[in-house]
Amino acid sequence: NKMRKKIVAGNWKMNLNLQEGVALAKEINEALAAEKPNCDVVICTPFIHLASVAQVLDANKVGLGAENCADKEKGAYTGEVSAEMVKSTGAQYVILGHSERRQYYGETVEILKEKVQQALKHGLKIIFCCGETLEERESNRQNAVVKAELDGSVFNLTAEEWKNIILAYEPIWAIGTGKTATSDQAEEMLCYIRSIVAEKYGKEVAEETSILYGGSCKASNAPELFSKPNIDGGLIGGASLKTADFKGIIDAWK
Ligand code: G3P
Repeated sequence: NKMRKKIVAGNWKMNLNLQEGVALAKEINEALAAEKPNCDVVICTPFIHLASVAQVLDANKVGLGAENCADKEKGAYTGEVSAEMVKSTGAQYVILGHSERRQYYGETVEILKEKVQQALKHGLKIIFCCGETLEERESNRQNAVVKAELDGSVFNLTAEEWKNIILAYEPIWAIGTGKTATSDQAEEMLCYIRSIVAEKYGKEVAEETSILYGGSCKASNAPELFSKPNIDGGLIGGASLKTADFKGIIDAWK
């Protein structure tokens, strides 16, 4: 049943300056030069890196994405970067709905719905994140929380638009904490997510939707996570900042 796209995507976050980012992208590109990876590989970088990183990546092997985009089309929005601008750098993807954007920058389901519209309008594929806090999991509300996040921002899309959506489940308690969800916990949630996608878009579309796990995913636990039937890959934070670690996760698909 793993006919759908397998994906390993890096999310660099706010860690590297321009020179460091270009150097890392070159290294990753070289590491993947010898053989074609068994999955799609995507690197998501801060806005300032995009145009330069696009120059050093072999677009046939490594996709490029932003970590955010504006909810507005264009105009007097100081400091914002539009989906159209992202696309013009050569990027093909954008991460939206990351918990860090929701938590620290006040991104609501309504704002995210607008960002999703902008990204689709300008031809970007979206890695749309969802996930619950520790408190929500401890009170067994994780399914309701994830459903509400999807309901409010992406379940309004048409089936045609949905083809551009990749989902990423990132339990907030597992991000950067070293505390991975067990492969069974991740599989259980991804299975639930696939079931609500099926309710909305039908079983066939749900079977074709790639759903990733994110949260302290590394080369040592990726094989176990990726062996689960519903886990189609990973969204990788910390371990995407070192070529050997990131390559190790990509190789988990071998
Ligand atoms: O988007 C990726 C992410 O939030 C996971 O981060 O550092 O736990 O792999 P990390």
